[in-house]
Amino acid sequence: MVGILDVSEIDTPALLIDLEALESNIDKMGRFCRETGCNLRPHIKVHRTPAIAHKQIDAGAIGVTCAKVSEAGVMISAGIKDVLIANQIVSAAKIDRLVGLARQASVAVAFDDAGNAEEISREAVKRGATVGAVIEVDTGMNRAGVQPGAETLALARKIGRLKGLEFRGVMGYEGHVQKVERLGDRTRAVQQSLAGLTSTAKRLKEEGIGCEIVSAGGTNSYSITAKVEGVTEIQAGSYVFMDGMHSLEGVDFEHSLTVLATVTSRPTKDRAIMDAGVKCFADSKVMPVCTTKGIEVTFLSEEHANMKLEKADPKIGDRLSFYPYYAPTTVNLYDRFYCGRRGHVEVQWDILARGKSQ
Ligand SMILES: Cc1ncc(COP(=O)(O)O)c(C=O)c1O
Repeated sequence: MVGILDVSEIDTPALLIDLEALESNIDKMGRFCRETGCNLRPHIKVHRTPAIAHKQIDAGAIGVTCAKVSEAGVMISAGIKDVLIANQIVSAAKIDRLVGLARQASVAVAFDDAGNAEEISREAVKRGATVGAVIEVDTGMNRAGVQPGAETLALARKIGRLKGLEFRGVMGYEGHVQKVERLGDRTRAVQQSLAGLTSTAKRLKEEGIGCEIVSAGGTNSYSITAKVEGVTEIQAGSYVFMDGMHSLEGVDFEHSLTVLATVTSRPTKDRAIMDAGVKCFADSKVMPVCTTKGIEVTFLSEEHANMKLEKADPKIGDRLSFYPYYAPTTVNLYDRFYCGRRGHVEVQWDILARGKSQ
């Protein structure tokens, strides 16, 4: 794929990054965290690409957050030194890889079960490694995680006694309140859902259990979570691209990610078809948004999209750009990003952790 110099030469469907918007988003979040005094450990699930993670670290991030051991493996192989896997790591094969990675870099994992902690401790001791331990606390999202208070304290004491593990703190993801429309309502909901996490961290410290990490937050709550007393770092990741899901009041980053597609058919005056469907946008329920006015995507099938036209008249062969509704699952469908600056392809980044879900 070497040799493409101009965005107009890129074959479609393709994933494009507007470098100026991406860099502006990364700088803005870096500046915000510096000014607020809260660390940033961005979730890389959205881009799965070390080149972008390095830019985030250059702008002040203290490391990265991953969901999977194999994502962490790609990041560490690319020179990233500090990784939080915000997820439970279960099964012998994964624990084996996790402990190997913990010998290469600082790796912390989220625990919510004493048996799982014992298993990882045993493997770490056997291999002479230390795995960082963070307890995942349920913020009311009802996903994984132990309950705040006594349950978390008991698990922390247990982990503190296990060799090969280093207890580092707590995390919680307030995912259930990320989409609250109005900023005022979202602020109250985020603060309420994090109260159990931060009060538990306080009780741990009072007991003399070190709790250097209190991690939470996503892009839609970044400016709220970072200011919650007791939170030491945020895990926001989607701010690099922005997408339909994150376009909410108070989330003031720029769209930097688009899918470029070609009009392949004009069956009627008020309808157009393009060459990108579910296999290019991942989501068939919420439609991508065309950057050209008067063009509305109404239906995605596997390799086609139906578009309704209103005062727009794209010709067969015309190229159109779309903001995906949800970037993480869209990105995972592509091999590379074409990164443009003012119409010129400056660099291509392979999405090295694409498909790394193990
Ligand atoms: C554990 C965890 N942290 C943080 C996030 C926030 O990510 P984003 O900034 O992409 O909304 C997510 C999103 O799913 C998550 O699962």
